[in-house]
Amino acid sequence: MKILLSGGAGFIGSHTYVELINAGHEAVIVDNLYNASEKVLERLETITGKPVTFCNADVSDKEAMRAIFAAHSFDAVIHFAGYKAVGESVRKPIEYYRNNLDTTLTLCECMREAGVRCIVFSSSATVYGPIETSPLVESMHPLDCTNPYAWSKSINERILLDVCTAMPDWSCALLRYFNPIGAHESGLIGEDPVGVPNNLMPYITQVASGKRERLNVFGNDYNTPDGTGVRDYIHVVDLARGHVAACEYLLSHKGAEIINLGTGIGYSVLDIVNAFQRVNDVPVPYAIVERRAGDMDSYYADPTKAKTLLGWQAEKTLDDMCRDSWRWQSKNPNGYRD
Ligand code: UFG
Repeated sequence: MKILLSGGAGFIGSHTYVELINAGHEAVIVDNLYNASEKVLERLETITGKPVTFCNADVSDKEAMRAIFAAHSFDAVIHFAGYKAVGESVRKPIEYYRNNLDTTLTLCECMREAGVRCIVFSSSATVYGPIETSPLVESMHPLDCTNPYAWSKSINERILLDVCTAMPDWSCALLRYFNPIGAHESGLIGEDPVGVPNNLMPYITQVASGKRERLNVFGNDYNTPDGTGVRDYIHVVDLARGHVAACEYLLSHKGAEIINLGTGIGYSVLDIVNAFQRVNDVPVPYAIVERRAGDMDSYYADPTKAKTLLGWQAEKTLDDMCRDSWRWQSKNPNGYRD
């Protein structure tokens, strides 16, 4: 298959590129490098041993996207491009809705014009909303989302479901990611947050490297075994392989499917800290602080549908996730910046 990766230079996009090439597919990366580095491209060439086809374009730029669709014959699109910071989305709702919806609508228009009918969308478990009944199953009716980022994912899901209803020869996979961590085992590509990391694993790796003094653990009075929040952490390479499986599935199936990509296993914040210290033999000083607003006790997937439908399940362990996250951080103390 030949696949367009919108936002393909980002954390999940770049890992998906590698797994697509490993599986014998062709891929074209479209990215405006707003939240990604050009260095990713040479790293991808080193990992795959093949030249990367890259288009520096904004996915909401219709003319640029038209030209890209005209220059290639795509079988499918994987749509990663979008803003992704929850806190920022609360401060900049207009920018978030404009960007995260325009990119999807432009892609759909270009796909229709070019006769491309398969799309995989990068959704998030956040669309389940503030729900306290894990494991989360795709058939659950979503509650209200709690921020513009989450709403933008939820509205994008709605758009693509409606598109597939109106055009029954289209097929679509709405992949709801849980908490992606880890990095490619080469240590050449990984997550490169700008500024102070919001998420747990990049914060831990920066504490372990001495860049930050200590980890603040947001609350130890949750209704969980050790009192700290429980999440479904998934290795980004497993997640990437889920996208390959979804593309291959869509080629022979019509209609839209919502699919969780998680492991089904919940780990607490302290489970992660302890595993990280043990596996990498490096200390991670931490302090228990106040709860973070909006956090929930437990949030993990029921991954049954992905296994039944796609034949995919996560294979990597928590130790793999901790080791690979640390290898990436150690080899690239400043991410992709020199
Ligand atoms: N945590 C800390 N200290 C930190 C950062 C996080 O204790 O410095 C804790 C949180 O309280 C939570 C857990 O670590 O219990 C995971 O927090 P993350 O911020 O890494 O992830 P979230 O589950 O809050 O959010 C993630 C994604 C969102 C997505 C959401 C729901 O970052 O984009 O999952 O799927 F919307």
